[in-house]
Amino acid sequence: MTARSATVACGASAPPIRLGINIDHIATLRNARGGRYPDPLRAAECAVEAGADNITAHLREDRRHIRDDDIARLTAANLAPLNLEMAVTPEMLAIALATRPHACCLVPERRQELTTEGGLDVAGQVGSLAPFIAELRRGGMQVALFIDPEPEQIEAARKAGADAVELHTGTYCAAALHGNGPTRDNELKRLITAAHDAARAGLEVHAGHGLDYDNVVPVASIPEIVELNIGHYLVGEAIFVGLSKSISRMRALMDGAREALRHSDTEAKVGGT
Ligand code: PXP
Repeated sequence: MTARSATVACGASAPPIRLGINIDHIATLRNARGGRYPDPLRAAECAVEAGADNITAHLREDRRHIRDDDIARLTAANLAPLNLEMAVTPEMLAIALATRPHACCLVPERRQELTTEGGLDVAGQVGSLAPFIAELRRGGMQVALFIDPEPEQIEAARKAGADAVELHTGTYCAAALHGNGPTRDNELKRLITAAHDAARAGLEVHAGHGLDYDNVVPVASIPEIVELNIGHYLVGEAIFVGLSKSISRMRALMDGAREALRHSDTEAKVGGT
């Protein structure tokens, strides 16, 4: 099933889709040797030249990849809007208020995990999240919540006062790689429904985690999704083709998906008159 077949035709009204490049793993590589190379700031410059709209970086509690001075240099360079992924902690709130990125995406964080493993349980902590979000918003930042594509999380995100949700695409991506067709289609359907529900709730809809060239098109074809955040695959692919080419191919796939949406909608309208 494609996203198209499960949504009401609304391609002409689908806005362009932004690409946020997550540069965490440039920093992972740098930190492997403890020096300055490769520099995440240079990667951010390259990403913007190759068509990225935003730069995304996750400042983890253990600073395993991005570090405080990377965030300071990224905000000072002001290459593109910075999306700071962060845990819901007083330390991160203070850093966000001091550095003022364009946006903050609140994620769950566990020290032992290899990467962000699941969405934030917003439904279980609306009361404590609401003032945290309000403080970031008062500081001028857009606040997104990284959630699993579930109705109760969307409703809770609205109640907590978020501007946006970022739908966790990890389960869909894993199903696209290892699962059978029906599992993948089910996961895609969950994303489609969640995107629709979130937009209806007045939330901006983003998505990310595990996206690659093979699985991105159905996600980029969901009209309510206006931003994808992608990192690990593109940094890996850069080893073989270079960072610019790796990113510009993703850009082209996303733009192509959007173009196809608009085209099919125009065709439907012409056919219907
Ligand atoms: N969005 C969020 C909230 C994430 O935590 C991550 C991983 O850091 C990504 C997007 C990007 O995922 P990937 O590196 O698998 O493309």
